[in-house]
Amino acid sequence: ALPDRVKIVEVGPRDGLQNEPTFVPTASKVEWIGRLVGAGVKWVEAAAFVSPKWVPQMADGAQVLHEIARGQGVVFSALVPNVKGLDAALAAQCDEVAVFAAASETFSQKNINCSIAESLERFAPVVDRAIAAGVRVRGYVSCVLGCPFEGEIDAAQVASVATRLYQMGCYEISLGDTIGTGTPLKARRMIEACAKDVPVSALAGHFHDTWGMAIANIYAALQAGIATFDSSASGIGGCPYSPGATGNVATEDVVYLCHELGIATGIDLPALIDAGRFISDVLGRPTSSNVARATQAR
Ligand code: HMG
Ligand code: MG
Repeated sequence: ALPDRVKIVEVGPRDGLQNEPTFVPTASKVEWIGRLVGAGVKWVEAAAFVSPKWVPQMADGAQVLHEIARGQGVVFSALVPNVKGLDAALAAQCDEVAVFAAASETFSQKNINCSIAESLERFAPVVDRAIAAGVRVRGYVSCVLGCPFEGEIDAAQVASVATRLYQMGCYEISLGDTIGTGTPLKARRMIEACAKDVPVSALAGHFHDTWGMAIANIYAALQAGIATFDSSASGIGGCPYSPGATGNVATEDVVYLCHELGIATGIDLPALIDAGRFISDVLGRPTSSNVARATQAR
C-alpha cells in the first residue's frame, strides 16, 4: 500500500543553487525560500556550510538563514561536512543539519577530499555535538545507484554506509542517486538492501532526473515503503563534483504525482509552480519541471 502522506524536503536552495555558475544574490535566495514556504513547503535545505573555495555559491549561508522568516513551523537545514561547518550551522540557528557520505570511494575523494571510512570517522563527533545541542541530523549517501567515476555501485555497499550513519545517530538517511542513472528495479533492490538494517520509515529518496527516470524511481520507492523525498523546485541543480549530473527531480512533478495518487503533501501546486517560475526567471532559463511547463502551456 502507498502512504497517505509524504514528507517533501525542498533541496533546491542547496542542491539546486550549489551548481549554478553565477552567484545568485542572497536577496533572491531569501525571496525564493519565502515563496516556497508560502506554497506549504515544511522542510527546506537552505544552505551548505562547506568550504567557500569548494562551493562559492553557498558562501552566504549564514546570511540566508539570518534573513529568511522563521517560526512558521518550517524546518530549515544545512549541509555540514565537519565540526567547523556544524559550528557555523549552529551559530546560524539551523533547525537541522545533514552530513554527507558516499557509497563510492572515488566520489568521496572528489567531493569531500577523504575516504568513506575517514568521512564516517569525521562525522561521528559532528553528529554527537549536534544532538547534544538539540539539533537533529540527517545523513546522505551519494552514488547509491551509480557513480560518475566508478560506474555500478553494489547495493550492499550502500546499505553498509546507510547503516553506519543510522547507528551514528542520523534520524533519517537520504539515498542519493547523484547522477540519475537509477531505474525502478535497481532502486527497489537498493532500498530493500538498506531496509534490512535501517527502518524504511527512516529512509528518504533523493533522485536526480538526468536520465528522466526520477519519477519512475519515486513510484518504485513509494511501493517499497519510502515516504520521504528530496526534490528541487523547477528541477534546478546538480552536484559540482559530479560531472554531467543535472538537477534533482522537480518538486512540482513529485507533488503532482503524489496528489494524483491520493497522497497528501501539504503543498499547494499552483503556488509551488509560481515559486519555481521565480527562480527560473532569476536564473534566466526555462523550468525543468514537466508539470510546470505543461501548466504554463495551457
Ligand atoms: P579540505 O581541503 O580537505 O579541508 O576540504 P581542510 O580541513 O584541509 O580545509 C581547507 C580549507 O577549507 C581551510 O581554509 C578550512 O578552514 C576551510 P583555508 O585555511 O584554506 O583558508 N574549511 C571550511 N570553510 C568553511 N566551512 C567549512 C570548512 N571546512 C574547512 N565547513 C571539505 C574538505 C569537506 C571542507 C571540502 O572538501 C568541502 O567543503 N567539500 C564540500 C563539497 C560539497 O559541498 N559538495 C556538494 C554537496 S554533496 C551533494 O551534492 C550530494 C547530495 O546532494 C546527495 C546526492 O545527490 O547524492 C548531498
Ligand atoms: Mg543531490
